[in-house]
Amino acid sequence: LKRNNIHRFSLVYDKSSKQVRASHTQLTELAEFVSHDQRDFMQHEGMMFQVNEEYDVLFAAFIHKTNRGQASGGLRYWQYENMEDFIRDGMRLSKGMTRKNALASLWWGGGKGLMAHNPQLDKTDQKMRERLYKDYGRFITSINGCYITAEDVGTCEQDMANIFTQTRFTTCIPAAVGGSGNPSSATALGVVHGMEAALTFLQMGTLAGKTIAIQGMGHVAEPMIGYLFERGAAKVIAADINQALINKVKHKYQAYNLHTHLVDIDDKSILFEDCDIVAPCATGAILNGETIPRIKAKIICGAANNQLKDSTADGQLLKDSGITYVPDFLVNRMGIVNCADEQSGYIDNDPFFTRHLDREYQYSVYQTALRVLNQAQQSNKPPADVAIKIADELSEEINPIYGHRGAKIIQSLLNNNWAS
Ligand SMILES: NC(=O)c1ccc[n+]([C@@H]2O[C@H](COP(=O)([O-])OP(=O)(O)OC[C@H]3O[C@@H](n4cnc5c(N)ncnc54)[C@H](O)[C@@H]3O)[C@@H](O)[C@H]2O)c1
Repeated sequence: LKRNNIHRFSLVYDKSSKQVRASHTQLTELAEFVSHDQRDFMQHEGMMFQVNEEYDVLFAAFIHKTNRGQASGGLRYWQYENMEDFIRDGMRLSKGMTRKNALASLWWGGGKGLMAHNPQLDKTDQKMRERLYKDYGRFITSINGCYITAEDVGTCEQDMANIFTQTRFTTCIPAAVGGSGNPSSATALGVVHGMEAALTFLQMGTLAGKTIAIQGMGHVAEPMIGYLFERGAAKVIAADINQALINKVKHKYQAYNLHTHLVDIDDKSILFEDCDIVAPCATGAILNGETIPRIKAKIICGAANNQLKDSTADGQLLKDSGITYVPDFLVNRMGIVNCADEQSGYIDNDPFFTRHLDREYQYSVYQTALRVLNQAQQSNKPPADVAIKIADELSEEINPIYGHRGAKIIQSLLNNNWAS
């Protein structure tokens, strides 16, 4: 890119030709690759890229679908082997956000931000991070609000505060500057509601007396353990790769029946514990042909994104194994719900937030999970397939106030030669 003097570029879907168009002729091959991809490309409306030349870091904003509103999704700071991995991750994650936001009935489309880490940089260098994230903020400003960013893997609240100094198209900024702050506790509560829906569906009663195994003891798992004990869980077994974190969580819940394991990164034994519910709260792709046959729990419900390694085959394998899987993007929505309405100001017990944890509201975590599980049973399909179908239908709805504005923003960027 630098050799060709390309500082910015775009890949934008042209509906009439059904092809992806690159902003630069040198990138036609890349556009063709995306156009013909059948795995991750799903008519993404636009992909905008910028090179941070100070640190050789590639920025991107992936805008999947903006029918319901601006494309919203977190910013991931990650190391990628090559351009294909980078673009695939952005396409996959932004499509996932369209589904998550639509299934939660938010008036938001799906998007994802990525920053490709340069391995020569020290990620803990705060000065570098400040300059990098500020530049990402300027990048977001330049694309005029078709994408709204937020916190994700590799990005923290302070990074969001740095972005916020350069753009208003961000959420998850610290409460001290008017944001909604870290959403992990809300995410944990949403997942617990998903567990309760699965127990109701299976006529297994409540969480009282149940044993839950949790992979990961980080930001989501820690409050989740508290919510589970509050509801009378008999035992929680949790595993992490970080001893200091385990010690901290153990100390917090010392009065409760919490069992902890320090594990190696490849040790998945926590998933195979004798328990009622397994809650993956660490990394993705952990439900696969190797792990599923060894899982004893009746229910899987956790916060980690993209738990199914292969969303079709592994969803089917779970079903065939008699395990009730509550789709991750259904139950881990509270993080995004937490920041979805922050532009509209704050009130105590905001109904736009609390209704997602309501038993009656038709789009609440509990009701949506029950609906998905019931429909899956009736149609003899895996719950993940049913949830995707419902989400894809909802994602076609057009924002009642702004219409399909995101696509118009992208078009106006092209008209104004954004990339040149
Ligand atoms: N934080 C949120 O609000 C939110 C919202 C939606 C989805 N999620 C997803 O939920 C998951 C957890 O999020 P988080 O914010 O708690 O992240 P986190 O990084 O705070 O916690 C993850 C924990 O998993 C541990 N871990 C990593 N590999 C492991 C392994 N092989 N075995 C056991 N433990 C391992 C890490 O040491 C870490 O403590 C992530 O996949 C995240 O993308 C989080």
